[in-house]
Amino acid sequence: MIRKYDFLVVGSGIAGMSFALKVADKGKVAILCKTALEEANTYYAQGGVASVTKQTDKFDNHIQDTLIAGDGICDRDVVTKVVSEAPSQIKELVSWGVDFDKDQSGNFDLHKEGGHSDFRILHHKDNTGAEIQQSLVESIKRHPNIDIFDQHFAIEILTQHHLGMRVKHTTPNIECYGAYVLDIRTNHVETFLAKITLIATGGIGNIYQTTTNPTIATGDGIAMVYRAKGLVEDMEFVQFHPTALFHPGERPSFLITEAMRGYGAVLRNKKGEEFMQRYDQRGSLAPRDIVARAIDNEMKLSGDEHVYLDVTHKDAEQTKEHFPNIYKKCLELGIDITKDYIPVAPAAHYLCGGIKVDLNARTTINRLYAAGECSRTGLHGANRLASNSLIEAVVYADAAAKDSLILLPQLSWNDRIPEWNDAGTSLNEEMILITQSVKEVNQIMNAYVGIVRSNLRLKRAYDRLEILYVETESLFQRSVVSKEICELRNIISSAYLVIKSALQRKESRGLHYTIDYPKKNPHADLYEY
Ligand code: FAD
Ligand code: SIN
Repeated sequence: MIRKYDFLVVGSGIAGMSFALKVADKGKVAILCKTALEEANTYYAQGGVASVTKQTDKFDNHIQDTLIAGDGICDRDVVTKVVSEAPSQIKELVSWGVDFDKDQSGNFDLHKEGGHSDFRILHHKDNTGAEIQQSLVESIKRHPNIDIFDQHFAIEILTQHHLGMRVKHTTPNIECYGAYVLDIRTNHVETFLAKITLIATGGIGNIYQTTTNPTIATGDGIAMVYRAKGLVEDMEFVQFHPTALFHPGERPSFLITEAMRGYGAVLRNKKGEEFMQRYDQRGSLAPRDIVARAIDNEMKLSGDEHVYLDVTHKDAEQTKEHFPNIYKKCLELGIDITKDYIPVAPAAHYLCGGIKVDLNARTTINRLYAAGECSRTGLHGANRLASNSLIEAVVYADAAAKDSLILLPQLSWNDRIPEWNDAGTSLNEEMILITQSVKEVNQIMNAYVGIVRSNLRLKRAYDRLEILYVETESLFQRSVVSKEICELRNIISSAYLVIKSALQRKESRGLHYTIDYPKKNPHADLYEY
């Protein structure tokens, strides 16, 4: 089946849905998601959205905090753009129904998180993401120009490659004409032709064994664009959240928001000692890379599988009021956070790199935009400042909308694209090969490409992954296409890109810490590795 739209949006998180809402008055939009509409990283966001909204805070302060966290390689123009456009995008989110908490005077109730010099995190209790996701879902459902395709899996973006041309990374003017999309319910591949395509497929957390990301985060958009010869950058910068609830076997790992440390919670080792001051004078509120590495080190020194987050010294009623979902979740596991320490350990959380885009959210492929976690804008540099990603997603969705609306009148559909060809494939009954391969990738990434790296570990990961790559490509060529085999391919490609970028970076910077090029660290003698 062939479908034609002005705009094809792959992904129904904050980036995809806000873009759809911004262009839908001017053209017909198809929005795809591979499971249910709600299931996206966006839904899981807890802490909130960073934006300067009070008189005493300044754009310059938010800019400086972002640049410091990014460890010297943020793009200053991008940082300035996101920080200064944030307040107007907050207004837009509010106009779509997002209800940020207010204080008694009617001003936004602002939280503080690691690396922020001021209280500037807008939030809805401790489930800001769910509030945003639900409000946007309601808004897109109401719009007559938006067609929603849930349970639809984008397999490949369409380019001149599908017209028989040999496309390489150096080929000039590669163009995107839409995507091949698997309807998961019917197992049929449809051709979505589009004048403009936006990739908004989110992150890659599921390349790791332990992650805060829901299972949808398999790097599909990044892998698709890489296969189509678009540029992908900064993949070595994978952010581990310091405080995921330690509850082995649970996937995704439940997050204990950084806002809890902003509220006064402190990290303790298993002996009950506060340790963060030994690593950084900002203590438990140092930027994430520093806190995650310190926890990792404490765990290595003691052999323990977790440390603790202690909020027991705070007023119990206030704690329940600010963090009702965390309170409830922990209580279900027998932990009363007003009385007991919370066991926590780092988990893969966020990808700073991804599909390279310019200030207009254009990728290196014409007619193809990217926004949200799958994109690499230059905002985060080597380490994302907490709560800077939801705001980045909505600012860049706005940039993509504005730029693509200018392009739209000049574009038409490419009707020469052939339909999906599955000749020579057969039903793959060896599902175990797929599920086991995913587990193997997860083990490789956790063991060798985690918080602390080395050339030897990365090389070992590379060699192991190559075997899986060759086996999986051969299986893919022979099998009828399925969501599972496509996700495995994408997981392998994303893991490969992380390892390749990590091997290329001959220094420790931000989230990429390697013992072969140690950073000059005033506390180096503390570290075990
Ligand atoms: P997502 O919200 O992940 O949406 C991706 C969409 O793409 C989904 O609809 C999915 O179905 C679809 N998709 C993927 N592949 C395909 C495919 N092949 N075909 C079709 N559809 C596909 N950031 C903050 O700024 N503040 C926070 O407080 C915060 N807290 C967080 C807490 C948690 C637990 C997590 C996991 C992340 C948090 N983040 C936070 C990060 C932030 O939530 C994400 O970076 C952001 O939501 C990403 O939005 P997105 O629109 O790019 O992607
Ligand atoms: C958190 O609430 O700690 C997550 C915030 C983020 O990832 O930006």
